[in-house]
This record gives sequence, structure tokens and C-alpha cells, in this order.
Amino acid sequence: MGFTVNALSPVLGAEVIGLDLSSSISDAELSRLNQAWLDHNGVLVVRDQSLTPEQHIAFSKRFGELEQHVVGQFLLKGYPEIYRVSTKVDDDGKPMGNPESGRYWHSDLSYLERPSKASLLYALELPESGGDTMLASMYAAYDALSDTMKGMIEGLTGVHDLYHVNKFFETSGPSAAQAELTPPVEHPVVRTHPETGRKALFINPGFTSRIVELSKSESDALLEFLFAHATKPEFVYRHRWRLHDLLFWDNRCTIHHAVHDFAGSGFRHMHRTTVLGEAAVL
Ligand SMILES: [Fe+2]
Repeated sequence: MGFTVNALSPVLGAEVIGLDLSSSISDAELSRLNQAWLDHNGVLVVRDQSLTPEQHIAFSKRFGELEQHVVGQFLLKGYPEIYRVSTKVDDDGKPMGNPESGRYWHSDLSYLERPSKASLLYALELPESGGDTMLASMYAAYDALSDTMKGMIEGLTGVHDLYHVNKFFETSGPSAAQAELTPPVEHPVVRTHPETGRKALFINPGFTSRIVELSKSESDALLEFLFAHATKPEFVYRHRWRLHDLLFWDNRCTIHHAVHDFAGSGFRHMHRTTVLGEAAVL
């Protein structure tokens, strides 16, 4: 139990020092870690890890069943639970990951019927500088709305669609065939977190295409407002990566954005696992 937890921001995020995840941690340690994760609003970074794919997968499974990403060409060979977030190229010249990955605010896999609970992203290679990940608290964004606005949006339904994300890609977004595997789904615009009981906004610019109960122009206007509101600097923690960080975030109450500012500054190479979540409910 000898690890320490230091807040990185009052809004969300803490670092964990002195925990080795390469061997199985005890149930008591897991329980303390999970509580710290909830207390710091769904973002922890465990520093200085040395993890094989097997160890990364084993630790991730302590939080639930793992998902296999629909964008199959970027999965790690022999480890379908690991999705590569990488700007590197394989020996055969093919990209290891999507070079434009995550350059928009989103919650991982929110376009699934059971959207992701958590993502665990492990830094194996970093550029000299840049390549930060921004995360925004959807608890804080919800809490800051007026009671009138909360009343208006509770009970509304958002459409989440993998193909919608293509508007953020220059060249290499999901294919039509991959999007066909994941038809659009509907989730409440406000969801209640199953572990904390707190309410959070559950919309994101990457995947939320419209609000079912509104006309298109009303939906566009409300989503534009909510997206701008949800990503205000006061709700955001910007993670500056250190090599061998394991960043562990809760997709039920945060959204995140990869900053693609490091062209010419080196490669960014990471492994991600994703834990299956429960259906979102108000
Ligand atoms: Fe992501």
C-alpha cells in the first residue's frame, strides 16, 4: 500500500508514485487506487511503469472486460486488446497507428451501445517535446451550468456515430466499412456515473452528431454551445507525458484531446487498452 497520490489539478487528475503494476497488485491496493481515481474525477497517471503487453492487459482486466477496437489495422499483433496510438511505421512500411488519432475532443468508443468505461494509455516513446493529452471534466462542465440549462438538457438524447469523426480527419479517418460495423447509437446527454452517483455531460464533438428531440438547427446550436462550454480551460487538465507513464481515464465523466504539435520533434508511440462500460443512463 506504499504508494502516494498527488493531485495535478483541483478539477481532475492525480499522479501515483511508488506503485509497480508489472506484478499483480493486491485487492486492497486496487481498491485504494480505484477510490483515488474516483476522487480525482477519473484521471490518474501511474508514473515509471515497465509493462509488457501481457502485464498491461492483466492490470487493465482488473477494471473489467476489455474491448477490441473496430479500427483493426492498428491493433498490436498477437494482442487484440491493445490498440496502438502511434506515429511510427511498421517494418512493412504500414502505419502502426493512426497518425491523426484523437485530434478532437471525444470520449473513447462513445459510439457503442455500451460505451467505454476506461482507457489505459501507456507511453513507450515520446517526442522531445509536445504531444500532450488534454482531458476535460464533464462533472465540472455539468455542475457549472445554470439550473435552467440543466433542466433543459436532462432527458435529451444524443446520437453518437463513429463516421461523424471523419470531419476532423484530413486523410485517414475510419472507413465506411468500419463505420457500418458500428451503426449510430443514442445516449442521454446527461448521464449519472454508476460509481459516484454524480451527473456528467455525455456529449463530445468527435462522435455526437445531433440531439434527437430537436430540429437540426436547434441541435446544431445547442451542441455548439455545449462543446464550447465543456472544453473551457477551467475544466481541463493538460497532461505533459513522461516516458513510461500509464494514464488511466474514465470515459464516463471526461473527454480528451490529443495535441498534434510535435511534427519534426520525434515519434509518439503508445499502447492503449479499453475497458467495456455499461449502458449510459440519466
Ligand atoms: Fe481517445
